[in-house]
Amino acid sequence: MRAVCPGSFDPITHGHLDVIRRAGALFDEVIVAVGRNSAKKYLFDTDERLELVRAAIADLPGARVEVLSGLLVDFCRNQGAQVVVKGLRFASDFDFELQMAHINQSLTGLETVLLPASAQWGTLSSTMVREVASLGGDVGAFVPPLVAERIEQKRNTTHG
Ligand code: PNS
Repeated sequence: MRAVCPGSFDPITHGHLDVIRRAGALFDEVIVAVGRNSAKKYLFDTDERLELVRAAIADLPGARVEVLSGLLVDFCRNQGAQVVVKGLRFASDFDFELQMAHINQSLTGLETVLLPASAQWGTLSSTMVREVASLGGDVGAFVPPLVAERIEQKRNTTHG
């Protein structure tokens, strides 16, 4: 069975990678779908987020990355994927994901599997990573090395 892990991945973190890896153990193939939420302002543009995800999953057999545009249910149908896998950290994630799962199931019957985040990355978020990075902190513990490097480059460009 083919699964989709959708998200903004701005940037991809060890928390995302944990969910993607575990989805890979449960399903034959995993497509990481890099989307755009028009309500959000991104640190990395779509091409950068795509490249960083591609590098981060390079060692995961059966995983690949695609751009997500339009409805997730249409993307899944076009990709021949039957299930969406999302990670759950805290109750607020559940409230949102339940709503998404219901609407996606009503639209096309697309199923959702919610995986509890592993304890180690239980409350990590891209938002926190961006916040720490923007204030000069070291994000090396939370993201793959290439992401940390690109964040550093961006910081140097922004602050001269
Ligand atoms: O990591 P994020 O920012 O929560 O990911 C957001 C994204 C892009 C994965 C999400 O907005 C999405 O799935 N967009 C596709 C549009 C869609 O199908 N929405 C659900 C029905 S309203």
